[in-house]
Amino acid sequence: MSDAALQRRALLTGTGAYLPEQIVSNADMTARVDTSDEWIAERTGIKQRHFAAPHESATFMGAAAGRAALAAAGLAPEALGAIIVGTSTPDNAFPSTAVQIQAALGAKKAFGFDLSAACSGFIYGLSVADAMIRAGQVDSVLVIGSEVYSRILNFADRGTCVLFGDGAGAALLQARDVPADGAGVLSTHLHADGTLGDILYVDGATGLRDKPAHLVMNGREVFRHAVSLLAGAVTEALTANGLTAADIDFLVPHQANKRIIDGVGKKLGLPPERVIVTVDRHANTSAASIPLALHAAITDGRIKPGALVLLEALGGGLTWGSALIRL
Ligand code: UT7
Repeated sequence: MSDAALQRRALLTGTGAYLPEQIVSNADMTARVDTSDEWIAERTGIKQRHFAAPHESATFMGAAAGRAALAAAGLAPEALGAIIVGTSTPDNAFPSTAVQIQAALGAKKAFGFDLSAACSGFIYGLSVADAMIRAGQVDSVLVIGSEVYSRILNFADRGTCVLFGDGAGAALLQARDVPADGAGVLSTHLHADGTLGDILYVDGATGLRDKPAHLVMNGREVFRHAVSLLAGAVTEALTANGLTAADIDFLVPHQANKRIIDGVGKKLGLPPERVIVTVDRHANTSAASIPLALHAAITDGRIKPGALVLLEALGGGLTWGSALIRL
């Protein structure tokens, strides 16, 4: 094959994860709020979540996940081009989590920035990284989702505090010249609707220490929009690539609610074994949920090189989107 037939793409060459040591079961939550294991498990599929200790910050967890992704790909931190961190729970307004992670990793050459798109943060980050790599701006980007939602949960609101957990996931993207049917990020599609900002938001700005920021959600409304918007985003990804659902090897959805995940899987006609689910173990870790799920399925051997993987997410904003990757 001549070089002219090759195209520059962003390949996923490594993943990593970090979960806080403390595991909080649904039974543990009943000691804190008026809820039950049955309600949480039946309505959401969640059985447990991880809650961060004081030292397990977005930077700490993101650096651990990022370090693991670099090691998996065999790329030295000094060679890394950029770091993008999807987070709604940065340690500080600035310096950004990304730049703090740059320091922690010793990734001296890398520039970095945080990206605010709530639960869609990883898909948004992946899209920006893919565009930067295709444009030739950088040769490698670490895309990280790192979240400490336990610090913005309102434990007086049982409708939200049982749903979220903490953690970080990372994916390394590296430039490669590949044939059209080769590996890499094939497409990303991003969307937003700010008119729906009031159905899922955090009611406070960073630094207002006298008024702790809390997550607020109209769960029923978010649920209603999630199913139809996510179905649209996955259809858009398939259409753009001239594919059908039968071509997809694995769906790696944002992990908010097992019922939403099942709904999208059913719309695609995918059997359950081709839908990656971690919401039972991690709960909703916002921007970290997709890279955590991706990492779990790659390391346990389900997702193998060559697999066609569809990602989708929806979060506060509203923001939503999809990405199609061949490993
Ligand atoms: O990641 C960002 C995207 N977020 C999402 O995708 C979340 C989308 N929404 C959801 O997943 C679901 O709407 C929830 C899991 C949040 C709620 O499930 P639901 O089936 O929509 O329940 P609901 O809010 O309609 O509440 C049903 C009942 C209510 O009682 P009444 O008014 O019917 O008597 C609630 O008070 O369940 C009650 N309830 C609870 N009961 C026990 C709400 N939270 C709890 C709880 N434990 N933790």
